[in-house]
Parts: sequence; structure tokens; C-alpha cells
Amino acid sequence: MSVSVLSPTGPLGSVSGLLQVVTLLSLVLLLLKAAQLYLRRQWLLKALKDFPSPPSHWLFGHKHEFQKDQELQHFLKWVEKFPCACPRWLWGSNFAFQVYDPDYAKVILGRPDPKSHEPYRFLVPWIGYGLLLLNGQTWFQHRQMLTPAFHYDILKTYVRIMADSVQIMLDKWEKLITQDPYVEFFEHVSLMTLDTIMKCAFSYQGSIQLDRNSHSYIQAVGNLNKLICSRLRNAFYQSDFIYRLTPDGRLSHYACQVAHQHTEQVIKLRKADLQKEGEMEKIRRKRHLDFLDILLCAKMENGHSLSDQNLKAEVDTFMFEGHDTTASGISWILYALAMHPKHQQACREEIQSLLGDGAFITWDHLNRMPYTTMCIKEALRIYPPVPNISRVLSKPITFPDGRSLPKGIRVTLNIYSLHHNPKVWSNPEVFDPSRFAPGSAQHSHAFLPFSAGSRNCIGKQFAMNELKVAVALTLLRFELSLDPTRLPIPVAEIVLKSMNGIHLHLKKLL
Ligand code: HEM
Repeated sequence: MSVSVLSPTGPLGSVSGLLQVVTLLSLVLLLLKAAQLYLRRQWLLKALKDFPSPPSHWLFGHKHEFQKDQELQHFLKWVEKFPCACPRWLWGSNFAFQVYDPDYAKVILGRPDPKSHEPYRFLVPWIGYGLLLLNGQTWFQHRQMLTPAFHYDILKTYVRIMADSVQIMLDKWEKLITQDPYVEFFEHVSLMTLDTIMKCAFSYQGSIQLDRNSHSYIQAVGNLNKLICSRLRNAFYQSDFIYRLTPDGRLSHYACQVAHQHTEQVIKLRKADLQKEGEMEKIRRKRHLDFLDILLCAKMENGHSLSDQNLKAEVDTFMFEGHDTTASGISWILYALAMHPKHQQACREEIQSLLGDGAFITWDHLNRMPYTTMCIKEALRIYPPVPNISRVLSKPITFPDGRSLPKGIRVTLNIYSLHHNPKVWSNPEVFDPSRFAPGSAQHSHAFLPFSAGSRNCIGKQFAMNELKVAVALTLLRFELSLDPTRLPIPVAEIVLKSMNGIHLHLKKLL
């Protein structure tokens, strides 16, 4: 029996009539949405017609092509087959246009296109709109305001702090290996780099490495890396409303809270310090301020201080960017050196001749370790800590080979694939530091661990100093070798991680 909406028969009839209307409306909406998605996909297929990629399913995209632990390696097969760039379909009309060619990278990084909404929006609840996620005039103002925090005179004073943090980590390792010579590096190195950034940028007194509370921040960052990446790949997790209701959404919310508690505490402590007598005077006398003091003392163009929200976003951004990237860099470099004992020994000899027992490492030493620097760069090539970055095209683009894309397309610069592209690097999987020997010729955009152009990494010099200090002091104290039963599997989260940790064998040198 059918009940017409127009002829309700009592309360039951009106309820079922209403249900029919709702069903009908939902169907119409669903059809409209499907038509919209169909048209968008057709438009995209047309826009991308010059850029082939393997056949994709209209709904599941290229999902069937990839296994989670083989993604990076598998994509490299595409790099060999499809020159310069290709689209990788995620689902429906959702895709990432992957670029892995230096000429293409040069064109993209030379333009002022903003950061794309996807995937960066998933970072917002955690790090807010700080330098990494801001665009336009506000980004420009913040970049200008924060650049002096990375002035040469300031960076110089950080070398001592970096060395002290590294020594604390090495002391811990020395104790640990009396029980078990195999150590999982990533967590120790993360704590060490967090310790360093806390002391350098946030004037923190004390040692994070010895304080158990900070482990929860490191754990939260680890979880957020994983959660954001799995959200990116899951069609059902795109809506904030739905995501919040899922177990992953709740875990992500909790991890953000833990991360915020950590940064709020840092701001609170420094504000309290600045209330103490004479502290403001000390700051006024300083020629260059620390990062957090710049933020706390900042006056914007309108004469107001930085809002609490902006201040928090910058602290959250630098707390994350300033330690997770360098932790990835150092861990993978040490792994690469463990895999190549001859290069490891050559670095060690260079450092021994420079530092002797290494009791004192200074700024001047950092430019006098050419072989070690070449090895660090080669490891950053094979294991770039930031594997991908994205932009959205604010106007059409034409690449040097004549192919073009319309406005609105999201472009992902796949740094990992660029660094492994056999058309750019011969035998890309071979660890060969001589690629970075002085005088060796490279395309200006073939090696981009820190990106390039106006939105390059503001912490590049800070990071390179920290990598050098950590590698030098570690090699002076330990001989590193692999754990053949637990070789790391690189995985592209926001930062390059290993699915199963980075386990190395440590032998104390006499
Ligand atoms: C080995 C270590 C590091 C690597 C490989 C690295 C890499 C990068 C890359 C590729 C970008 C561009 C991101 C994009 O376009 O979306 C970037 C931006 C950025 N990095 Fe780093 N980074 C490292 C260390 C650091 C450190 C130590 C800090 C802070 C102390 C830092 C702070 C930032 C910030 C704030 C941005 C955004 C800059 C802007 O858009 O103006 N990074 N980094």
C-alpha cells in the first residue's frame, strides 16, 4: 500500500509521508552530488590528459596499486615510467598531482601559489596557522618578524647547547648498551632534538631528556603523524564532523590536547620569567632575541602585540618543525652510516682529526668537516625528512616541456621521488657522497630537502648545524652497525619515519 504525502491518513500516515519526502530529497541530493562528482572527474581527466598514469578505478582510484609498507618503493616504478609528473588518484575525484622533476619543481617553487587546503588543513587543529600554514600578507609579516631568530650571531651560540643535548643522549646510550647493544634510535633522537629546540628557541631551563613528562609530547607527535596520514587516505574521514566521532578522531583530539598542554606550559614559564625583575632589561640589551622572546615582544604594524592565538600557533609550529624533522634527519643519517661502514670510518677520521676527543665542538668546526657534510647531504637525499609538500595553483601553469595545468589543481612536490629519480640521479639507490663533492654539478632543484624559493625552510641553517653536531659527537663515541633482523621500512608520514623504528647496534669506542 502506498501512502501519498498529499493525502495523509492520520499521524502514522503523515510520518511515513514525511519519510517519503525526506527519502526523495535525499535521493535527489545524492544524484546531484554524484552528477557533480562525475562532472568534476570528467573535467579533471580532461585537464590531466597530457599526464598519463596507470589506469585508476573511478571510485577507489589507485588504491589497489599500493600496499602500505611498499608505497614509497612502488611509486618509484611510476617515476621511471611517467616522466616528470603524474596524477595519483586517491578516490573519486580526489587525487594528488605528483611532481618529481627538477625543472617542474623550479617552476612551481618560483611561483607564489599558496599552500593547498589538503593536506595542510589536517594540521590546523594541532599547529594552527603559524608560519608553515599561513599564506599571503600575514605569512610575509610573520616571516619577516621571525627571520632574525635565525641570525648567524644567534645560531653561533646554539652550538654549545646542541652539543650538551647530544652528550646527554650519548650518555644514556652508553648505559643502555651494557644491557643490550641494540638501540631503537628514533625516540631517543626525538627527545634530544626536542631538548635542543626547547633550550635554543624557547629559553627553557632544564633537560627535557631527563623529564618523563616530555615523553608524552613526543608520543603525541608520533601519533599525530600517523593519524593525519591515515586520515588523508580515508575517504570517510574527510568530514571533520564524522572524523570526530571515530576512534581515530578521538585519539587525534587527545593527542592535540597533549601537544597543546606542552606548548602552553612553555609559554607560561617564559612569561613568568619575563615578569621577574631585570629580565625585561636583559632582553632590551640583547642585540638578537631568541625565537620566543621575539614573539612575546612583537608589535605588529598596528602597534598591537601578537594575539594569543597567533603566538600559540607559532610556538606549536616551531616546536613540531624544530624537532621532528631534525630527529628524522639524524636517525636516517646514522642509519645510512651504519649501512656503509667505510664512509662511517672516513667521517670518524675526519672528525677525530678536527676535534680530538670531541670535548669541545664550536661553530668554527662546523664548516671544517667537508666529507661528513657530503655524507649528511647524501643521506638527506636518500631519506629526505620532509618527503612531500603541496601547493594549489592560483593561476594556470605551463611547464618547460609545454604541458600545462589549469588553475585550482593541487600539486604535490614529491621530494622523496625527486631524490630517487633515475633521470636526475644515476644509480639513485646507491649511497655515494661524492655526488656532493665540491665542484660537482647538479640542477639547482635536484636536491630539495629544505625546499627552495620564498617558502623554503626558515630553520635550514639551524638544522644543518644540529645534524653536524649530532653526527660528529655520535661517531666519536660509538661504532654503528645494522640490526639485520630489523631493517627499517621508510614510510612517508608528514615527516619521513620508519614503520618499525630504526634499530642499530652500538659499540662503544675506546
Ligand atoms: C632536517 C631538518 C629539516 C628539514 C628537512 C626541513 C624541511 C622543510 C621543508 C621542506 C619546508 C617547506 C614546507 C612546505 O613548503 O610545506 C620547511 C618549512 C619550514 N621549516 Fe623546516 N625543515 C627542517 C628543520 C626545521 C627546523 C629546525 C625548524 C625550526 C627551528 C624548521 C621550521 C620550518 C618552518 C617554520 C617552515 C615554514 C616556512 C615558511 O613557510 O615560511 N624547520 N622545512
